Amino acid sequence: MKSLHRTSTAQESFDSSAVNRRTLLGAALGVGGTALLAACGSQGQGASSSSSAASASESAAASAASSSASSAASASSAAPSPVASATSASASASASASVSSSPLALAQPSVESQPDSLRCLVNKMRPFEQQDWEPSDLVEFYGHQLRAEAAKAADTMIDAAATDGVTLLVSSAYRSYAVQQQTYQYWVSVNGQQVADQLSARPGYSEHQTGLAIDFASPEGCRLEECYRDTLAGQWLAKNAPRYGYILRFPDGRQSVTGYRFEPWHYRYVGVQIAQEYVSSGAKTFEEFIGTGAAPDYASAS
Ligand code: DAL
Ligand code: ZN
Repeated sequence: MKSLHRTSTAQESFDSSAVNRRTLLGAALGVGGTALLAACGSQGQGASSSSSAASASESAAASAASSSASSAASASSAAPSPVASATSASASASASASVSSSPLALAQPSVESQPDSLRCLVNKMRPFEQQDWEPSDLVEFYGHQLRAEAAKAADTMIDAAATDGVTLLVSSAYRSYAVQQQTYQYWVSVNGQQVADQLSARPGYSEHQTGLAIDFASPEGCRLEECYRDTLAGQWLAKNAPRYGYILRFPDGRQSVTGYRFEPWHYRYVGVQIAQEYVSSGAKTFEEFIGTGAAPDYASAS
């Protein structure tokens, strides 16, 4: 992978001034909880919550070279439905193995529940069933790691952006359960748990653990903030990412569905076909597209 686009280690460290701005921005966005809990692996077991996560200092979290955060939102919320009966809002709902009225079929884990599936949906209601699950095909990616297919597609996308005169920097990619634990605890230590939960997934609940998510940065300097949307990189990604199999995972105005504030830097690889279906479907969130309903908050309080 080319080092040209890689962010420096220093850039990986957390930006406390940005955090403080987010703290002010982020006061008290109400997120209504719902009761469904389905695992990314199979329905049912939840991963451990923050109460079991080891605490980590800012420097420890920074050295883990990972972070996340962001800004405001609100939106309509679909009723949650069990993973096993999930349906795709796209024209190719047949791609979902879970659509059936048969009790036998309902007992099968859906592709959306398999952590190595490009359709895997991880959110606050859908943790990894095996909480420390790791992808088997991680490759080096700009100083981070990413699943091989996602890395190849991202390389093509980064090259295409460069051809258009736009530099896409990579801020974070795959994060293991342990790294996410440090990352989440960092945000809790800075902002408190209520705000942290709007910015960062608890360990076992992060899409970064799939090895299919990338946090991009920009040489213009707006990192992990809503202003990333207005950078050349943010604008280019918003327009072109689906062409390369990447979708914006936490859109503006959809916190009540995704559980997180707007993250214009966080893109999830789903493959070109699913990305095109996603765009064509008109869905605004992957939850809506897959048909599992909203995941505004964790099923259990802590
Ligand atoms: N920032 C996203 C939600 C994560 O931590 O996975
Ligand atoms: Zn992210």
